[in-house]
Amino acid sequence: MKAIILAGGSGTRLYPVTLVINKHFLPIYNKPMIYYPLSLVMLLGIKDVIFVVNPSDLNTFKSMFGDGSKLGMNIQYVIQNKPNGLAEGLILAEDFIKDDTVCYILGDNIFFGHDIVKIMKQAKEEVEKNGGAYVFGYYVKDPERFGVVEFDEEGNVISIEEKPKKPKSNYAIVGLYFYDKEAVEIAKNVKPSNRGELEITSVNEEYLKKGKLKVKLLGRGFAWFDAGTHDSFLEAGEFVATIEKRTGLMIGCIEEIAYKNGWITKDQLLELAKPLKKTDYGKYLLEIAGE
Ligand code: TTP
Repeated sequence: MKAIILAGGSGTRLYPVTLVINKHFLPIYNKPMIYYPLSLVMLLGIKDVIFVVNPSDLNTFKSMFGDGSKLGMNIQYVIQNKPNGLAEGLILAEDFIKDDTVCYILGDNIFFGHDIVKIMKQAKEEVEKNGGAYVFGYYVKDPERFGVVEFDEEGNVISIEEKPKKPKSNYAIVGLYFYDKEAVEIAKNVKPSNRGELEITSVNEEYLKKGKLKVKLLGRGFAWFDAGTHDSFLEAGEFVATIEKRTGLMIGCIEEIAYKNGWITKDQLLELAKPLKKTDYGKYLLEIAGE
């Protein structure tokens, strides 16, 4: 499986902060927002990643991650000229995905929870083995901001709607999706919505129509943030700070994961820690390396 991380968009809900800076570089507590979705992809064992980026941000992304070799990964980039919607990332990454399955993740989504990696690995393996699409629902107070999933009494999915005015449930579809190789063709046939975007919900609806959509609900033990508004951005940062201080362990530390996955050596980890040594982040990396 390969991964696509969506890191374009316009970030209008974070204006004026994001008038000239891309939100994915902003700090969620002690590390850039984009580390969080990347770290989840890494925890799933996926080494091949493509970032979908705005033309003006390509160089910054490249100076941040390069070709991925510093993390023992293969990282590529594709430009999205305009924020035409979430489904466009699948089309833009077609040559990268080829015939593989794909983990599709939004660059401003942050996940945390007991067994989250285990649950997501199960979904990944299900799609790798049996195809189809696998998405996750999460109870929210403001479902009208999201793609919303409706169930019947037996828990079967009846509908999915993008930003409905009258949501049929409180379950939002979170920004992490697993797809088989059909997703690209499906995305190519998606028509722009009323707000002029190629919606990822339309891709999911197509899988639903074919009877190939699985939805798993994430319960109370999980935290999910779409850090794209002023409040959710702040809440995500406070959450990460609290958890990290209580547990002494970091969330979204990409260097640690690369090392623990066996993708980089201790010497490489120490090299990555060097410029960070004045910070707790750098000290944490040294501890991980046993120094
Ligand atoms: P959104 O938060 O839905 O959109 P946005 O980032 O443009 O922000 P706003 O609504 O405040 O204007 O996007 C979710 C994620 O997907 C985010 O990480 C940016 C990314 N994205 C793209 O890469 N391309 C796109 O065309 C869109 C719409 C979003």
